[in-house]
Amino acid sequence: MVKILNVVGARPNFMKMAPIIAAINRRSNEVSQTLVHTGQHYDEAMSSVFFGDLRMPEPDITLETRSGTPTRQMARIMPLFEEVLISQQPDWVVVVGDVNSTIACALVASKLNVRIAHVEAGLRSFDRTMPEEVNRLLTDQLADLLLTPSADADANLLREGIPAERIVRVGNVMIDTLFQQLERARYSTILDELELRPREFAALTLHRPANVDDPESLGRILFAVGSIARELPVIFPAHPRTQARMREFDMVAPVGVRVIAPLGYLDFLQLWSNAQMTLTDSGGLQEETTALGVPCLTLRNNTERPITIEQGSNRLVGSNPARIICAARKILSGRVSYAGRAPELWDGHAADRIVEELIARSNRKLSGQQHRHRVTEPQRRAMKV
Ligand code: UD1
Repeated sequence: MVKILNVVGARPNFMKMAPIIAAINRRSNEVSQTLVHTGQHYDEAMSSVFFGDLRMPEPDITLETRSGTPTRQMARIMPLFEEVLISQQPDWVVVVGDVNSTIACALVASKLNVRIAHVEAGLRSFDRTMPEEVNRLLTDQLADLLLTPSADADANLLREGIPAERIVRVGNVMIDTLFQQLERARYSTILDELELRPREFAALTLHRPANVDDPESLGRILFAVGSIARELPVIFPAHPRTQARMREFDMVAPVGVRVIAPLGYLDFLQLWSNAQMTLTDSGGLQEETTALGVPCLTLRNNTERPITIEQGSNRLVGSNPARIICAARKILSGRVSYAGRAPELWDGHAADRIVEELIARSNRKLSGQQHRHRVTEPQRRAMKV
């Protein structure tokens, strides 16, 4: 029996982990699993609602971490996760994405010689001022198995000297979830609740520190969105960080921009998939809109997901109001075609390929071809002192 320990911590992790848990359950005669939630996100709206929406089991273990600076967050996660690993003794730790919990848990696993599989490996924005970029680079250096969503990710890893035998392109797990939940999302009543008709509004999300922690950049983006809102109502489910900054900077949303609480997965899917366009600085939404061909304006100057521009419906517009407004007008006037296509292997079966690979590599280890070992007895004893 292969023993897998899955880690989730923050909102964008849940939709990546849900299909992996389901795929492991389909192979339950060969694999057992434990789900650990680091507690990085803890609100009902940022965390709990997703477990119901995605039909995920409750975490087996939840760490008491809560908010703090990134360093404090990680410093709280690491000793708690170390205890978990020592008591659980898994064959693999599976981490997803690029949040602080991802690198914190990967680092602990590497110290205890537990094998690490990183899902969504190889994405690069080449912008090290983004906390997520540093998390990606370091997690990929530590991982034993790098499961990538696209060819550009493979190329990034090879360029960084990661041996080719550790890299496996499996496709995009978040799109597994999207396809699985699309039908259920159609029962959401969110459009009625907000009195919206399909294609007659835009959806906005905003939470990156570079956009929201600086009053000038937040002001510029809100100005641009306000200008778009004169022609098309904008619905803005606002992240707690962004709500806090708007209060701190004494900013209110412009006329036509409706700020609402963060939405659960199904309501949010129903919202953005019916929007005429989305405006966002999220990583995940760039991919999700690409999979369904919804025009997406990304409020950043770079993206770690270039395939969403090359093949999908995404455009980078930064935080410059003129650029944002000009791109939105093109969509409003119907002058541009955003008919992209879903990249190869974004087909709803990435999680099955991941589990297949984990099982195959575990069996190889049993036959003596891999030599990484589990937590040692001295390490266990040291822990208890
Ligand atoms: C994190 C991820 C980011 C992801 C985003 C999605 C990192 C480095 N960043 O950013 O990649 O796109 O989540 O949501 O891990 N807060 C609450 N309730 C919560 C969670 C957070 O009120 O449940 C507030 C806290 O005041 C916290 C702030 O939001 O300080 C920011 O949360 P944090 O986890 O530090 O990072 P995010 O900005 O959410």
